[in-house]
Amino acid sequence: MKIVKTITEMQELVQSYKQDGKSVGFVPTMGYLHEGHLSLMNKARSENDILVVSIFVNPLQFGPNEDFDRYPRDFDRDEALAKNASVDIIFYPDVKEMYPKEMAMTIHVQQGIDVLCGRSRPGHFDGVATVVLKLFNIVMPTNVYFGMKDAQQVAVITQLIENFNLPINLVPCDTLREEDGLAKSSRNVYLSSEERKQASAIYQSLQKSIERIKTGERNPLVIREFITSYLTDYTDGMIDYAEILSYPELKEIEHLNGNIIIAIALKFEKARLIDNVTLTVES
Ligand code: PAJ
Repeated sequence: MKIVKTITEMQELVQSYKQDGKSVGFVPTMGYLHEGHLSLMNKARSENDILVVSIFVNPLQFGPNEDFDRYPRDFDRDEALAKNASVDIIFYPDVKEMYPKEMAMTIHVQQGIDVLCGRSRPGHFDGVATVVLKLFNIVMPTNVYFGMKDAQQVAVITQLIENFNLPINLVPCDTLREEDGLAKSSRNVYLSSEERKQASAIYQSLQKSIERIKTGERNPLVIREFITSYLTDYTDGMIDYAEILSYPELKEIEHLNGNIIIAIALKFEKARLIDNVTLTVES
């Protein structure tokens, strides 16, 4: 496994693989790897000749009062996990390599960001789309792997690829969970032991919402009300949002029908957790 820190070296390496007719799978991450990241890597490993993983905590996608400085980092541990997952290259640039000077332009996402994390984190998806476009131009992947845990991110990157005609295939991947249903996340380490116990209520409320829909509920407001009271009853967290929208359009709906997403963001003292489920509802 190679660790590449410069853009030039990364581009040269990929160009040589491409010349040899090899496919390149790419998993972009911010590091502090967990089984969720590893599940993306395993899928990418099985579908490509070369597997590239990037580790870069991207300052552009963090708001001024967010956790950029204290975002968990442990490169040695990440390196061992990546090696074990048969990664060929870790692209591990520093901030100066990615942003040597102030950007003269960035991507501005203008659709699908008035809801969910786009609404609570202004500018977040501009930062994500900008770094991902840079990473795509550096790694030049054949296939890219993104987790549905960040479903709005999948929707934004799908549009990025489509709008700018990038010759890249995006593979959305299922959310990997702890045994009690909590979605794996680098931010779970911020939870106190009490909060960790309560956090399983997020997925429980999503599962119970699905059951209600299966037994006939079609009013999104009823589902939203149910989630709100469930999380209030079973956790000390503050609800940032509980939304039911069409997917992947992310539009508000009055009646549950077709492909939908039920998404939650819950703020504990030091961690803001997100989770969602997508499903198809028959009318
Ligand atoms: P990060 O939060 O490190 O996540 C990297 C990838 O892992 C994302 O595609 C995310 O959806 C996926 N992932 C996280 N938790 C998961 C889980 N429990 N199951 C399955 N997949 C999971 O997302 C980012 O980094 C950044 O925004 C990035 C795309 C790297 C741009 O900076």
